[in-house]
Amino acid sequence: MDAGLETIIAAETVLSRIDGAKGQLIIRGRAIEDLARTEEFESVIHILWTGFFDDLPNVSTLKTRLGAYRVEAFENLSDDFSRLAHHPPLEMVRAGLSLGNDGSDLDTALQAVARAGVLLAAHARLSRGETPIRPNAAHSHAEDIVAMMTGTPSSHLAKGLNAYLVTVAEHGLNASTFAARVVASTQAGLLSAIIGGISALKGPLHGGAPGPVLDMLDEIGHADKAQAWVSNALDRGERLMGFGHRVYRARDPRADALKRTVSHLPKTAGRLQIAEDVEQEILKALAIKKPGRTLETNVEYYTALLLEAIGFERTAFTAVFACGRMAGWVAHAQEQLATKRIVRPKSVYIGPSLAA
Ligand code: ACO
Repeated sequence: MDAGLETIIAAETVLSRIDGAKGQLIIRGRAIEDLARTEEFESVIHILWTGFFDDLPNVSTLKTRLGAYRVEAFENLSDDFSRLAHHPPLEMVRAGLSLGNDGSDLDTALQAVARAGVLLAAHARLSRGETPIRPNAAHSHAEDIVAMMTGTPSSHLAKGLNAYLVTVAEHGLNASTFAARVVASTQAGLLSAIIGGISALKGPLHGGAPGPVLDMLDEIGHADKAQAWVSNALDRGERLMGFGHRVYRARDPRADALKRTVSHLPKTAGRLQIAEDVEQEILKALAIKKPGRTLETNVEYYTALLLEAIGFERTAFTAVFACGRMAGWVAHAQEQLATKRIVRPKSVYIGPSLAA
């Protein structure tokens, strides 16, 4: 029995390869750092979905259709925005996706990605007491989310968000992707698979870590206080958010891709310096307190800084993550479906014997 399934190979995939020892993530033959620097999110969707939809168009048409679906999503959902925005952002996205065509076709997939972006931006506006802004189909997905949130498309912020969406789009058989594949294996449909993924992503051990990273940085306040704070937290048996990973035994390559992205955004220098200093203290303390285990910085640490700099509330961080990871969930769901095999492992019964 292997409770965390870490020794089990449960899928063959053409999508990504993680070398945990080297700290390397390859997406369909491309290094993640290269994709994050050069590609639009729509191109990465195209890379991931190639081979999984017979009618996948070229990137430019895919971008146009995604834009049209954002406009459609705004029109269809705007009556529900206020009611849904009473819930946390991830729950608004999950609820807003749940009623819709649940097919295994390209339109279902594009509609889901479009709707998630529109819901995320509407939540940001409504939580500040502002009116949601209509999407613009001519924008890229990242540009449009920034424009719908802020009212002014900012190329800096859109570039930052685009790099983030690309960086988190795909990452092997993590908990949410596995959940999405299990749902897909039952032929439930892509929306159901995505909602399964969202639900798994919600937990603090997976996609829910970056909000608490900022709480931690706020509590520490200054790098001088980091050593004592970290030592006390570890003595209390707490886990430090943004550190450790099931697969990586070296630094998560996504952490540096995002750190670079943050450093290009305006007014982040002070926060970044504190985060770098605190990171060094945490790594030192983890090496001392957990000597048997290599615990390095994971993607969530610099995600927190990046999403804060773009203007997202920390309660929305996991929802932004879902908007990016959805691209990977869809590809994995289609890959799983093609195996025509329902996922059904065994359990070992350890309850009482049959009563006489
Ligand atoms: N802080 C302190 N100690 C830690 C941390 C951490 N962040 N991560 C692991 N450890 C310790 C554990 O307490 C355990 O110590 P012990 O042997 O003394 O009990 C040891 O390291 C091994 O931990 P495991 O639970 O076996 O590690 P696992 O691979 O199961 O966990 C996980 C991976 C869940 C990511 C873990 O490192 C963690 O909780 N990190 C903090 C949350 C976080 O940052 N999550 C985001 C991950 S990235 C993503 O999902 C997108």
